[in-house]
Amino acid sequence: FAAVDVIRTKRDGAALSDEQIRWVVDAYTRGVVADEQMAALAMAILLRGMDRAEIACWTGAMIDSGERLSLRCSRPLVDKHSTGGVGDKITLPLAPLVATCGAAVPQLSGRGLGHTGGTLDKLEAIPGWRAELSADEISRQLEDVGAVVCATTPTLAPADRKLYALRDVTATVDSVPLIASSIMSKKIAEGVDRLVLDVKTGSGAFMKTREQARELATTLVEIGAAHGVATTAVLTAMDTPLGSAVGNAVEVAEAVDVLRGGGPADVVELTVALAREMLALAGLSDVDPARVLASGQAYETWCRMIRAQGGDPEAALPEPAHVHVVEASEAGTMTRLDAYGVGVVAWRLGAGRARKDDPVQPAAGVRCLVKPGQRVEVGQPLFELHTDTPEAVAAVLPTLRAAYDIDGHETAPAALQARGG
Ligand code: URA
Repeated sequence: FAAVDVIRTKRDGAALSDEQIRWVVDAYTRGVVADEQMAALAMAILLRGMDRAEIACWTGAMIDSGERLSLRCSRPLVDKHSTGGVGDKITLPLAPLVATCGAAVPQLSGRGLGHTGGTLDKLEAIPGWRAELSADEISRQLEDVGAVVCATTPTLAPADRKLYALRDVTATVDSVPLIASSIMSKKIAEGVDRLVLDVKTGSGAFMKTREQARELATTLVEIGAAHGVATTAVLTAMDTPLGSAVGNAVEVAEAVDVLRGGGPADVVELTVALAREMLALAGLSDVDPARVLASGQAYETWCRMIRAQGGDPEAALPEPAHVHVVEASEAGTMTRLDAYGVGVVAWRLGAGRARKDDPVQPAAGVRCLVKPGQRVEVGQPLFELHTDTPEAVAAVLPTLRAAYDIDGHETAPAALQARGG
């Protein structure tokens, strides 16, 4: 094959053959196909699309670019993947909850980039906690504890690692076939055979509309089926941050509240809903995750999971050097709190990174003290901004102010409006 012929095929709108796909993905991984050729092909795929068979084959070729883990465990293995959002700390309570219910959950996760946080960045706020585990350590912890959240290894789907970095700088991320094959190649290479996908839609998500999110969810589920992985997907809203906390240590604290039977209602609800989906795939639908969560047993599993990776679950979490409180300048009802805007504020306060290898501040983030639909009075605290770099506060305030609306007109309480509507 010649790379230009493969590019031309897709540029002119035809389907790529299995042989073309396997060749180009392998040759790109080995450095035989150049970055500029793969960038042109990615743009042709973005503009022309790929059919179901092409997407399944592309995913397979990316899996075959590296090794596949074979995790061993006597309990049913089930995984969850979220397409990412603001304040999405669900993995933290979910993995120990589902483990407590009888399944085993391997969560190989990444670090955050841009306005969405990374699960590993959050857990690294816990003193002593270690993200890097060997395949043997993962298997042992799955057997002993039932839940592992750790770093993905560079040997899983290396073609995706290289291609994702290229797409990032060539405006070719937003393609459903490329996003779906990227996500599924990593998950299938992990060796799980049951997977629940939380596909986010709204301002804080990759997919801004429900139609796009539905298309992504359908494509992900089809890839799973083509590769023998039992896959289900749920579409969930990401217009406003999930829970109150957005950042690293603040999100860990909120997850611990949920594991102890408290925490914000939306975080509890989504954790339980995803746990039900995972338990159904694992053949454990007779266990009620809501009851298990309320019992506090999942908190015990959390402590064992953190200790198994060197962390101290009882240790104090890092405190920020500076806390700035933003108060309401008018009375009224908060009618909008935008996920993307709050995500950007947390990121600029130091919770996230702009470049892949930047450090993050474990204590940085935002606590949203009021949720949309709630009434506020003048002077009432709306947000706490946490940071070790107080000079960042003035810079984020205009972004934060643009991220929420308070409507001063007298309106019926939100609960009545919801019932009326
Ligand atoms: N997440 C991924 O893993 N890959 C993409 O292409 C987009 C989001």
